[in-house]
Amino acid sequence: RSVTLIGAPLEEGSGRRGAAMGPTALRIAGVDRALVDLGHDVADAGDVQIVPARDLPNNPKAHNLRTVGAFTRALEAGVYEIADAGRFPLILGGDHSLSMGTVSGMARYAAKHKRPLFVLWLDAHSDFNTPETSPSGNIHGMPVAYYCGQADLSDILPRDRPLVDPKNVFQVGIRSVDAPERELIKEHGVNVFDMRSIDEQGVAAIMRDILNKVEAANALFHVSLDVDFLDPDVAPGVGTTVPGGATFREAHLIMEMLCDSGLVSSLDLVELNPFLDDRGKSARVLVELTASLFGRRIFDRPTRAA
Ligand code: ARG
Ligand code: MN
Ligand code: MN
Ligand code: MN
Repeated sequence: RSVTLIGAPLEEGSGRRGAAMGPTALRIAGVDRALVDLGHDVADAGDVQIVPARDLPNNPKAHNLRTVGAFTRALEAGVYEIADAGRFPLILGGDHSLSMGTVSGMARYAAKHKRPLFVLWLDAHSDFNTPETSPSGNIHGMPVAYYCGQADLSDILPRDRPLVDPKNVFQVGIRSVDAPERELIKEHGVNVFDMRSIDEQGVAAIMRDILNKVEAANALFHVSLDVDFLDPDVAPGVGTTVPGGATFREAHLIMEMLCDSGLVSSLDLVELNPFLDDRGKSARVLVELTASLFGRRIFDRPTRAA
């Protein structure tokens, strides 16, 4: 495949510093090398540079809106252009508010081709807060609501931008949801596979179900991987750890199944906080998982019957 890396050194959507170091840590951990070694054509668009958007208001219920808004605009345009050039956008985060831009860019690309966009959200959190429901005011808890058109964050993007249907969002690994957020998720029909469903069904059955739906809908498919999807023992380098997360093996199986499906169109790696990491451990795990998604495997498997 032809892949373009784009760095988003954004930390203002989270409640603390450090995630802005994420793109550098992922590059040092060798994300480009891993893809080149697998035979892919890799380009690096460098890190997004922004100035805070002065046309946006300061909003006490959505901290750093001008900075997050400027990243959203730059990433929406950048990801759209990469996809439109026939390349796979691989976004190196940066906190999860960056997905307001990346998913919106893919939604515009999908709309241009009259195809739906499905999203796989691998996360401990649902990130479906709005400025009104958020307990923290941190925008990284709002991106799913935003790209589904449910969080009013002023005019970051044009009012007529393509949205994602919440029924096309699949969340896996969920184990921390705020009370008002839970109501919104139910109301809008977001598909949630929480840790209990992983324990009961296993990730393979869950992924088969999701991949069949993506295929049946002829959809584009964006994957957003939040470090806190993983158990903190596997990946400690994140500001919002929640115990009881996905294992190394579960995460790799998901990536391998995504690879086999051939359905993935774009990927975010988010919430890595190298300042909190243990000697690069989490950055390395993210690179290993990315390699699995792009074809690294122990042995080939017979292809799935059509
Ligand atoms: N639900 C909490 C909030 O709204 C935590 C969100 C954490 N999100 C994340 N991308 N790590 O503040
Ligand atoms: Mn095109
Ligand atoms: Mn998240
Ligand atoms: Mn999270």
